[in-house]
Amino acid sequence: MERSIPRSDPAKLAALAKRAPGGRPIGALTAYDYPTARLLDEGGVDVILVGDSLGMMVLGHDDTTEVTVEMMLHHTLACRRGVSAALLLSDLPYRSYETPNEALKNARLLCGAGADAIKLEGGTEMVAQVEALVADGIAVVGHIGMLPQHVREEGGYKKKGKTGADAERLLADARALETAGAGALVLESMVAQVAADITAAVAIPTIGIGAGRETDGQILVIHDLLGAFPWFRPSFATPRADIAAETRRAVGEYLQAL
Ligand code: KIV
Repeated sequence: MERSIPRSDPAKLAALAKRAPGGRPIGALTAYDYPTARLLDEGGVDVILVGDSLGMMVLGHDDTTEVTVEMMLHHTLACRRGVSAALLLSDLPYRSYETPNEALKNARLLCGAGADAIKLEGGTEMVAQVEALVADGIAVVGHIGMLPQHVREEGGYKKKGKTGADAERLLADARALETAGAGALVLESMVAQVAADITAAVAIPTIGIGAGRETDGQILVIHDLLGAFPWFRPSFATPRADIAAETRRAVGEYLQAL
């Protein structure tokens, strides 16, 4: 019998707390399919992100810019079936939120597919979009620092916050998103001190990736945790399994045994 599908719950984001002194950081991982999402949920992960990193990790594209709303709906629905305790977060993909109305239309679709909250990339330029979603009762996570959806315009993945002006801009972005109603922020690939300063400056939780240890939580792409994408391994990720080697071993053993 099919399991009943847990409902989307926007209140889950508001329940996500900043790290208490000495407390455990928020633990977040990506998932793109039912079994992975269910295993992460059963393992006690706080936030499961159906990330648009789907484009590279699952679909074999060079970056996230090929990902569409339809793809995100497909994978959000699959993950929703496996997640009952964690916050299920879904990415608005590239060019799906250029105006507040477009953001609203697509975020409603993702929530309809089961997302508890929506993540979008960008700082002060996204304030109107965040306000529109929040006014509609949609829980929003901001994403600042290195923005993967802008990799082509920027000519590569570049660490942020290296100059005083850039650090100031990131802090202003974080404050603007918080004021607009975002319930948490992903801080990606930025100087650790800048991430620490942002974390101290905002009342909402920050979740870092390649941004040092002084954030309220950490997020990783699941393949980087499991050693399941051997063709690229980010320097900040510590793999805690070697699924690629284990897959190759099992395939070899299977072929030998035929
Ligand atoms: O899509 C994704 O996996 C992400 C994380 C890198 C935060 O946005």
